[in-house]
Amino acid sequence: MKALVVYESMYGNTAVIAEAVTRALGEHGLDVAVAPVTSTSPGEVIEAGLLVVGGPTHAHGMSREATRRTAASDEENVNPDPTVSPGLREWIDRLPLGTEKLAAAFDTRIDKPVFLTGSAAKGIAKRLERHGYRLVAGPRSFFVTTQNHLAEGEIDGAVAWGEELATRLGAAARV
Ligand SMILES: Cc1cc2nc3c(=O)[nH]c(=O)nc-3n(C[C@H](O)[C@H](O)[C@H](O)COP(=O)(O)O)c2cc1C
Repeated sequence: MKALVVYESMYGNTAVIAEAVTRALGEHGLDVAVAPVTSTSPGEVIEAGLLVVGGPTHAHGMSREATRRTAASDEENVNPDPTVSPGLREWIDRLPLGTEKLAAAFDTRIDKPVFLTGSAAKGIAKRLERHGYRLVAGPRSFFVTTQNHLAEGEIDGAVAWGEELATRLGAAARV
């Protein structure tokens, strides 16, 4: 099965998680590609039987143009290529309907209870379902520090989640 991992990332952390998930899916036999939302057209999604979408949590949910611009212009942000436009909201809204397609959503966020931080993954999952995708797993968060560095162990966590997705794909295909 073909899979596509699409991410939005301002400081680079969500991109690192996306790459780790991609590696794990590839090692489990999927024909998988990874790309930033800024250079993935909805047309590229059509071929993928599994679509994995991830983004940073901003203002308790999915980013908006203003929050992305805030992050991109942050003097502390050393990422040379923040994904400012389009954002995942607009990108998902323009996707072709995903009837019979499988999907999964993840985010990065601060390591605090979700009622305090919010979660972009929940919004991403909801939008994907609205587009006809069937989720193979619940929304998943990976943690960053308040200084925007990945928390310890999160890359390993992303690999493990990718492996879990690959395993669930087998079960989903049998439903
Ligand atoms: C404008 C802005 C708003 C943010 N709001 C939240 C928030 O509500 N909850 C949270 O957990 N993290 C919040 N963060 C931290 C981001 O989740 C963090 O920067 C992101 O996970 C890093 O991912 P990236 O490196 O891929 O951009 C915010 C960051 C920015 C720049």
